[in-house]
Amino acid sequence: MAGAVGVAIAGCGVVGSGVAQMLTKNRGGISRAAGRDVALKYMVDLRKVEVPEGVALTSDFERVLEDGDVRVLVETIGGTGVAYDCTRRALEKGVSVITSNKALVAAHGDELKRLAAEHGAWYLYEAAVCGGVPVLRPLNTCLAGNRVSQLSGIVNGSTNYLLTRMELSGLGFPEALGEAKALGYLEADPADDVEGYDARRKLAILTNAVFGSRLKDDGLIPTEGIARLTERDLVCARALHGAVKLIAHAERAGEGWTGWVHPTLVMEGNMLASVRGVFNALTVTGDCVGDVTFHGRGAGKLPTASAVIGDVIEAVRSGCTAASIERFDSVPAFVSPDEKPVALAVRIEGALPEGLPPALRSVQVDGMTAVLLKPIARAEGMKRVAALREKGVRAGIPLIVLQ
Ligand code: HSE
Repeated sequence: MAGAVGVAIAGCGVVGSGVAQMLTKNRGGISRAAGRDVALKYMVDLRKVEVPEGVALTSDFERVLEDGDVRVLVETIGGTGVAYDCTRRALEKGVSVITSNKALVAAHGDELKRLAAEHGAWYLYEAAVCGGVPVLRPLNTCLAGNRVSQLSGIVNGSTNYLLTRMELSGLGFPEALGEAKALGYLEADPADDVEGYDARRKLAILTNAVFGSRLKDDGLIPTEGIARLTERDLVCARALHGAVKLIAHAERAGEGWTGWVHPTLVMEGNMLASVRGVFNALTVTGDCVGDVTFHGRGAGKLPTASAVIGDVIEAVRSGCTAASIERFDSVPAFVSPDEKPVALAVRIEGALPEGLPPALRSVQVDGMTAVLLKPIARAEGMKRVAALREKGVRAGIPLIVLQ
């Protein structure tokens, strides 16, 4: 093997220290896979953190960039401030940047990918979606010959953990939230998880990979999290033979694409219904391959580090020089899903009220009526249930049904 390729890690929190641990422990195998010796040379942090033997801890980012041995920067700082600045400076020097920072990818990824291409470097972010489950590389390579029509997935592990605890242990939302917080599963701002913003960013990253849509269009995606669900919604879901999951969904719509993040009644028989705890899963439909489902740990120190290391290997194997490949001939626009007919499921406390859109079937359970509505334009269905709630009907928020 030729001389070692130097790696620097900026941001030595949970994921950064996991990457350091893995690079040190599995250096031989990682180097063989990359075709070059891969050496962790610097860890950059303002704090005094523990670093593996032989690795320099520094707060001087400039010194790191001036070291010509450093060809790969792992950015695990998080957020869109310092992380953005460090990423730009590295890419401008032709240093490839690997990140798990989904907020930065969604906010500035379009621009950072362009910058990377201009400087012959990589900007890779497999770890930003589904943690340790490889999804972006398979979509960008193995499945890239397919025309993908749609994808649906559980892409936020913390909310799946909350829903699993509520479903299997009957915990209320606040209790389950407290437990997840104590276990360190939540984002710094738990609203990112429970209001669905994290899932929305990941959906934008996925649709960029399969449709060529803009990363920064994440803000256009209608998003409802799980904060307004109760354990009684989950009881109704089970009575209808399904499970409640926070699903990120996207599909083609004419020349554009549409999608949403929404609590969903996933019917038994769909593999996503049985995904439990912090696990993630994603089903992608290609025109030739049909349905492909990915499943595994969506969060956590070493699963996320595993995805980062996969990108490091990819960058080093290519000689840290990225070929600028544009896979899509145009950028599809986001189309509102308001008019899209969807089946909805609703929990009604007590008997069925007047004014509910037509139902396909309903089931009585624990003093509630679990109702499956006939397909209706998404916005209209939501509006009519909201109007009933305003009139005092005790109805849950509608769940979108996924067969
Ligand atoms: N809060 C995120 C999740 C972390 O639960 O999926 C991994 O992106």
